[in-house]
Amino acid sequence: MQQLLKSYKMDTKYWIERWQAGKIGFHAIEVNSQLKEFWPTLPVEPSTPVLVPFCGKSLDMVWLYNQGHPIVGVEISEIACRDFFNEQRLSPKVSTVKNFKIFESEHIRLICGDFYELTEDLLPNKFAIFDRASLVSLPSDMRTCYARKIADLSPSGTTMLLITLRYAQNIMKGPPFSLKFSDIRGLYSDSFEIQPLKSINRIEQLKKFKERGLQEIWEESYKLTRQL
Ligand SMILES: C[S@@+](CC[C@H](N)C(=O)[O-])C[C@H]1O[C@@H](n2cnc3c(N)ncnc32)[C@H](O)[C@@H]1O
Repeated sequence: MQQLLKSYKMDTKYWIERWQAGKIGFHAIEVNSQLKEFWPTLPVEPSTPVLVPFCGKSLDMVWLYNQGHPIVGVEISEIACRDFFNEQRLSPKVSTVKNFKIFESEHIRLICGDFYELTEDLLPNKFAIFDRASLVSLPSDMRTCYARKIADLSPSGTTMLLITLRYAQNIMKGPPFSLKFSDIRGLYSDSFEIQPLKSINRIEQLKKFKERGLQEIWEESYKLTRQL
């Protein structure tokens, strides 16, 4: 437990420093294509808020917002939160609740702070979840804690669209880390029903990974439904 806590603290510092240094190669300049393909097939009404854990300044939030969803992102870096609103030409209201700084404009609320400290009272009663580049940003010893937090916060019936990556972990070190279907099952099958959706080899689009020695990198999507 002590070890887990130690690496976890290193991790928040690691990400804050990456944002400070502008090392944000994970930030995609296009909306994720599997989000666009599969979100409309999910049983999620357009008025349902979407929780985006570890949200960065992702443009996927803008796409979800444009589908009608209020957005609740959670992000440790204040730089990421401020950049998001600046780039969207929005002037957020800023407030403080517990250990969190909350940036809010229109129906987009970015909760700046540690996701593991998030409590239910900061979330809507009902929401869907979108996870791209969040679970895969965690080394294996930290994933259980993240998945447990997601399950604890999610009311029964919550739908999650999860996008992961799978590649030869012995060739390239993460982050992002490689996850197989069996890893997803190990993390979530106690609390969620899991349906694999699609697997696409992205090596031609993700050239930086080709340069790091990979011959294939599979972007995989899953629909998860929170059980009772
Ligand atoms: C790989 S990035 C992915 C960002 C976003 N999902 C995207 O698609 O661009 C992971 C993000 O999680 C944030 N993060 C890491 N640990 C966190 C924590 N404990 N609480 C909240 N955010 C965290 C990092 O600052 C970083 O922006």
